[in-house]
Amino acid sequence: MTLFEEENKYLMNTYGTLPIEIDYGQGSYLFDKNNKKYIDFTSGIGVNSLGYNNADWKNSIISQLNNFQHLSNIFTNNSTVSLAKKLCELSGMSKVFFANSGAEANECAIKLARKYSFNKYGEGRGTILSLKQSFHGRTLATLTATGQDKFHNYFFPFPTGFNYATANSIDDLQEKLTSDVCAIIMEAIQGEGGVHPLNKDFVLATCKLAKEKDILIIFDEVQCGIARTGNLFGYNTFNVEPDIVTCAKGLGAGLPIGAVLCNEKLSTTFQPGDHGSTFGGNPVVCAGASSVLNQLCNTNSYSEIIFKGKLIKETILNKNLEIVKDVRGLGLMLGIEIDGDSSIIQKKALENGLLVLTAGKNVIRLLPPLNISVEDVKEGLKILVKVLKEYK
Ligand SMILES: Cc1ncc(COP(=O)(O)O)c(C=O)c1O
Repeated sequence: MTLFEEENKYLMNTYGTLPIEIDYGQGSYLFDKNNKKYIDFTSGIGVNSLGYNNADWKNSIISQLNNFQHLSNIFTNNSTVSLAKKLCELSGMSKVFFANSGAEANECAIKLARKYSFNKYGEGRGTILSLKQSFHGRTLATLTATGQDKFHNYFFPFPTGFNYATANSIDDLQEKLTSDVCAIIMEAIQGEGGVHPLNKDFVLATCKLAKEKDILIIFDEVQCGIARTGNLFGYNTFNVEPDIVTCAKGLGAGLPIGAVLCNEKLSTTFQPGDHGSTFGGNPVVCAGASSVLNQLCNTNSYSEIIFKGKLIKETILNKNLEIVKDVRGLGLMLGIEIDGDSSIIQKKALENGLLVLTAGKNVIRLLPPLNISVEDVKEGLKILVKVLKEYK
């Protein structure tokens, strides 16, 4: 049996996989079994922020492995504490809880917001308001928070206590801010929903309204956080101060992690027994994540990310390709909206040695490794422009 036949036989049918078998990765390249080279503009859906085989990241992990791989959260350890400290120092937030994925981080954020509200206002104020076209995860609560009807099927009953407002419509948001709402959750750039950045006026007005009513602001930075947009977090472009921030994906650079950051106001909300995770804060994963922060979260790296993002945006726009309707996003989180089928572009790019993602039927999504070289960006762009030109 081929690998693909065995996959069909033994794995649940939850993913549509691409028809290549990857052998290994190096830098921003992946190589398949036939030694065909692919430039990676996907980084494992925004996860492999340092590309492949990054020496410092690997050494950090190995050195932690040489000490111990896991202790459980009844012991403390330097690797986990030092990552939490770095995250707080970089973000200005007060405390961190570690989970293993984006969805888990958002679950924790929901619990934290509800407990804060319960402690202060009692029952009946537990509704989480999210935005339409958002994506927050696949657990039942985060799936319910996800503002896309197509996800709200089959798995009934869904949890209660969620409502949705139209992104970038302050009138609709104001209408949905009923007395039962305890928090608003949003992505600075909606990734899965089509790479749609929120507009600044909307975010500022939302945060102002929320503050007046002591409604918490949660930024889901799972996809756009940890230097992806050329800032520590996507929301940094709005100059706002959220109460809770969630991140995952690129923080781990390929090992599973989720993190929830909260401000001073929420720093004593959780008490022992309120929340937990067997693997959350795993020392090996945290050692790798510290290397990610050291390498990517500084002003030099931010300006390089912004430069490479602009290069991609301008190259595509300057070609005046008829098929291209819009190029949007920030840093190395970009969406190219086309008048055509994005999965065909993805397939053609793959044949030509470039990996890209889609976000819906007509958006090509680019999430390259954040340390990709300018030369590799240019090489990938050549392929992308060729494929866009030849689209039929
Ligand atoms: C914004 C956002 N939040 C949450 C998630 C869920 O993350 P995970 O798949 O790690 O649970 C994703 C995943 O794509 C995401 O993009």
